[in-house]
Amino acid sequence: MSTMHAIRVHTYGDVDQLQLEQIPQPEPQEGEVLVRVHAAGVNPLDWKIRSGWMKSIMPVAFPYVPGNEFAGVVERVGPNVSTLRPGQAVFGQSPGGTYAEYCTAPVRTLAPKPTALSFDEAATVPIGATTAWQGLFVAGELQAGQRVLILGASGGVGTFAVQFAHSKGAYVIATTSARNVAFVRSLGADTLIDYIQTRIEDEVHDVDLVFDAVGGEASTCAFSTLKRGGKLITIAGQPDEAQAQARSVSASFFAGHPSADLLGTFACLIDAGQLRTSIAATFPLSEAHKAHELSQSGHGRGRIILRVTEHQDK
Ligand SMILES: NC(=O)c1ccc[n+]([C@@H]2O[C@H](COP(=O)([O-])OP(=O)(O)OC[C@H]3O[C@@H](n4cnc5c(N)ncnc54)[C@H](OP(=O)(O)O)[C@@H]3O)[C@@H](O)[C@H]2O)c1
Repeated sequence: MSTMHAIRVHTYGDVDQLQLEQIPQPEPQEGEVLVRVHAAGVNPLDWKIRSGWMKSIMPVAFPYVPGNEFAGVVERVGPNVSTLRPGQAVFGQSPGGTYAEYCTAPVRTLAPKPTALSFDEAATVPIGATTAWQGLFVAGELQAGQRVLILGASGGVGTFAVQFAHSKGAYVIATTSARNVAFVRSLGADTLIDYIQTRIEDEVHDVDLVFDAVGGEASTCAFSTLKRGGKLITIAGQPDEAQAQARSVSASFFAGHPSADLLGTFACLIDAGQLRTSIAATFPLSEAHKAHELSQSGHGRGRIILRVTEHQDK
């Protein structure tokens, strides 16, 4: 049996539950490929699951390999796979864990990697860009000329949300801390709000859509920025229904769905120079605990990456 290095979690707990182990490689099933993972994205959901915070909503079977997004190279294809071949560089999502040298993934959640990006850069894209696109345009129905407020604009989802909303022709108001203001402006934000110095409810009004990637108090405060009939789409917790009703606006939680077609669209935009990625920090697989500590801090600029292989060609 072939084995691989992987991070596994055996019980809910702190970052020291992220153990580097030698375990069997997974086998690709019908409609799946086996991928040699070069880089994995580290999402806040990963530490929320590890700590047990999500156990009533998303229970896990122990031991499990954390992580959902990756970039790598197809090693082998499973039965009835004709769209991908061994040796092809891909990026996408896997339900089976990506903090590992190999993962399996259904072809419907993968696409050829953008040629302009390294594997590290490509691993920043799948969850952040998919959630931003679907949250803005499917759930939020954002139109050209509308005003959108993006909370958490410098994060792994927000960096894509700002770029998509700007390219749609919306007026983009974005919240971030002072150290990320210039960066978020360069992504296409029209108005920047430093969330530490300024109360958004004092500065922002008549917004058609709030795209909330922060949750909690930031989400609650954003209700008063909406115009009557506006929408709040949050990806970070349950919205305050009572506020929504009192202000005659709608509010809903949204979760992104993996899509090979959307990944293909992102790859085209990236290779055409129309979509940028940002890496907050890179850690080797053996330092997954440091990556989780940083993710739990809630601050950064783009997506944290675990580099699984040291040699990375584009
Ligand atoms: N529903 C879904 O499908 C889905 C998908 C992906 C993520 N999520 C959730 O969405 C949230 C964001 O995810 P992410 O991957 O973008 O997280 P992330 O990359 O960890 O985002 C951190 C960013 O949030 C900013 N931030 C922190 N507090 C803020 C505040 N009060 N106001 C404005 N910005 C603030 C930080 O900026 P500074 O460094 O400048 O402080 C940092 O850039 C998480 O809760 C995650 O679990 C949900």
